[in-house]
Amino acid sequence: MKFIPVNEAIKKGSGKVAVRGWVHRERGSNKLKFIVLRDVSNIIQCVIDKETVGNAKFKEADKLQIEASLELEGELKKDDRAPTGVELIVKTFNVVGWSEKFPIAKDQSTEFLADNRHLWLRSRKMTAIMKVRHTLVTAIHKFFQERGYYLFDPPILQPSQCEGGATLFEVKYYNDKTYLSQSWQLYAEAAVFALGKVYDVSPTFRAEKSNTSRHLSEFWMAEMEAAWMELDEVTEVAKDEVRFILKEVLKHNKKELELLGQDVKKLEKVASKKWPTVTYKNTLKILKDKENMHVEFGKDLRTIEEDKIMKHFDTPIIVTHYPKEIMAFYKPRDPKDKETALCFDMLLPEGYGEGIGGSQRGTDIKELTESLKKMGEKPEDYEWYLDLRRYGSVPHSGYGLGVERVLAWICKLSNIKDTIAFPRTQRRKSP
Ligand code: 4AD
Ligand code: MG
Repeated sequence: MKFIPVNEAIKKGSGKVAVRGWVHRERGSNKLKFIVLRDVSNIIQCVIDKETVGNAKFKEADKLQIEASLELEGELKKDDRAPTGVELIVKTFNVVGWSEKFPIAKDQSTEFLADNRHLWLRSRKMTAIMKVRHTLVTAIHKFFQERGYYLFDPPILQPSQCEGGATLFEVKYYNDKTYLSQSWQLYAEAAVFALGKVYDVSPTFRAEKSNTSRHLSEFWMAEMEAAWMELDEVTEVAKDEVRFILKEVLKHNKKELELLGQDVKKLEKVASKKWPTVTYKNTLKILKDKENMHVEFGKDLRTIEEDKIMKHFDTPIIVTHYPKEIMAFYKPRDPKDKETALCFDMLLPEGYGEGIGGSQRGTDIKELTESLKKMGEKPEDYEWYLDLRRYGSVPHSGYGLGVERVLAWICKLSNIKDTIAFPRTQRRKSP
């Protein structure tokens, strides 16, 4: 008999079927054994009756432990008491892989689950998150490809920083050293002079020295870069992209969102609203007027400030024009307001922090060189990058979206570590 996925069996509701999967739960008496079987699609209760399968087979069934893998054949029956409303009355079954006592049980510590990540991935929670992640990353590719962007892959080993030397991961490189990518951006800036509009989703590395619920040492950044694009346009692309992602997830993963405790109606409302753009200076005003919090111009917005600002918005917002002095070297001074830069962040609602960082790119070699020096960098190391300004430079802009940040928000996760199968942080590099 051909095996069908559990969700199809549930839909069918009656008749003969064969299913296969893993023991999610088991309990029994000396006559009946109840197995809740799990596969990628759902769970279904299977009932093994000693009278039907015979003594020897029933002994086998009785020995089944959580996570054993098996194939079962039988007759479907609707039953409201079963977890998914349908039961499989088993005629025959075959144990494919026995399981020892599964180490993961109820109420185990986050650390224990992290140590056993390779097994915890099978949990319904992690499975749901990985499915949403699949939709999210697929949506990013779809969004850019439908809009004429080319996929452009960066080198992961890079000779210099993009977002500050402090978080670089150093790698031994033959008899020399190099670094793991902090961003795809500088290389994408070279590519737009050939391809016009490019994007990528690639691994990104930052030696973050603090242990927070928002930082990973290895994460995936979805970046875009476009020639002839300025700040006011790129911020709208960012909003459109995140809205597109949200709609795709709502289209494909309602079940997963509900399982994760997310309010689907609320997300639908967010997707249909207009998302505001405000300036950094405006956010200082919000902090002062509404939160009685004085932040001086020139200070970066930390988590505490971002969270207070976002108390006043229920959608993602774009914040533009941060102070030039505290920005990465490539963010240009705004000619109309010289103490600020032509840059932006997208802040996510409900305390999920910065989901996107981006900017127009500096094209003035003198300004770029000065900014590099201020950061303690040697401009000579960036000659190739400065070349891009020497040969037919054009205005261009781009941004990076933190895949895990956006996923944490959409899935309502309390910690970013659950957005990625095998998280890497300052304290964890295995399994
Ligand atoms: O704001 P960031 O540092 O921007 C850049 O790297 C630009 N070069 C991107 C560009 O313009 N092409 O990082 C972009 C986003 C952040 O907004 C955040 O969502 C995410 O990447 N991010 C992290 N996510 C998880 N763990 C970390 N340690 C992260 N650091 C940044
Ligand atoms: Mg940033």
